[in-house]
Amino acid sequence: TRTPVNVTVTGAAGQIGYALLFRIASGQLLGQDTPVRLKLLEITPALKAAEGTAMELDDCAFPLLSGIDITDDPNVAFDGANIALLVGARPRTKGMERGDLLEANGGIFKPQGEAINAHAADDIRVLVVGNPANTNALIAQSHAPDVPAERFTAMTRLDQNRAYSQLAKKLGVTVNDIKKLAIWGNHSATQYPDLFHAEVNGKNAAEAVSDQAWLADTFIPTVAKRGAAIIEARGASSAASAANAAIDHVYDWVNGTAEGDWVSAGVVSDGSYGVPDGIISSFPVTSSGGNYEIVKGLDLDEFSRAKIDASVAELVEERDAVKSLGLI
Ligand code: NAI
Repeated sequence: TRTPVNVTVTGAAGQIGYALLFRIASGQLLGQDTPVRLKLLEITPALKAAEGTAMELDDCAFPLLSGIDITDDPNVAFDGANIALLVGARPRTKGMERGDLLEANGGIFKPQGEAINAHAADDIRVLVVGNPANTNALIAQSHAPDVPAERFTAMTRLDQNRAYSQLAKKLGVTVNDIKKLAIWGNHSATQYPDLFHAEVNGKNAAEAVSDQAWLADTFIPTVAKRGAAIIEARGASSAASAANAAIDHVYDWVNGTAEGDWVSAGVVSDGSYGVPDGIISSFPVTSSGGNYEIVKGLDLDEFSRAKIDASVAELVEERDAVKSLGLI
């Protein structure tokens, strides 16, 4: 039998954690031939709740689950970690300034980056889900100088999946008919879901829609503000769909993307498409051999260029803010 892969999940007692852990343990993260050991990180007051979730995981008798460790110490949680899902973060509360939000998250993602640097396995791959995801990923990455920067990624896959479903509804097709629909920029309201490079049954998606007003005034804002709409309807933020996207992101990273298709992920920019080097921005990416790579050479028309520039400008502002706070 194969040695178990160590999967660290932070914020394990939260709502995404509850939707995520059972899917990881059932084999949906890495595949049905890969045993996993879960390492759960929580803050001290939430350890008991994490233990409750671990009891339920035991009660599922998952054949692929080889063990569960629970801790409030990042140095323990990331020890030997092969995959890390950084879900726990400090949410913005009423009246909180952006600087305070970034600072509070710096207090979480800086020590976690350091612990990953010191203790994780050589093949560590990190997905940051906790918001502001791109900038939290940048903070963690900047404190892990011994880990290749491209091993730190931020989640925009939920945005991509939302875009797939909105487009499928509009055109009366299924999500299986759609390819290459990617998100550019920040996981925020400025993100840009790109229909100009997407395909529907082999046809250009923007041409298939052929309704620029719908694209600009309905599709993009619906995708970008879907998180708020879920909160409004459910009284709580997206959890199962966020967990599902995290599974998709890691599964494709490890197992590779399909030939002739791409997916979205926040990855460290290499300067492609004028996105400043080093910031963690969403791009269309492909994966093979366990590495995400930015899709190169796409033509961007004026509309797309302006949307991407606006979202990237927001990322640059966030980077500058965390820099001036001494967090990177
Ligand atoms: P939640 O509040 O239910 O759970 C968060 C958990 O993190 C709590 O149990 C808390 O105790 C824990 N936590 C806080 N600080 C921690 C630390 N330093 N170490 C370990 N654990 C810590 O929140 P939920 O709904 O599970 O969401 C988690 C994060 O995911 C939020 O930041 C949310 O905004 C973000 N999110 C991101 C999405 C994306 O598409 N990138 C989509 C949906 C949510």
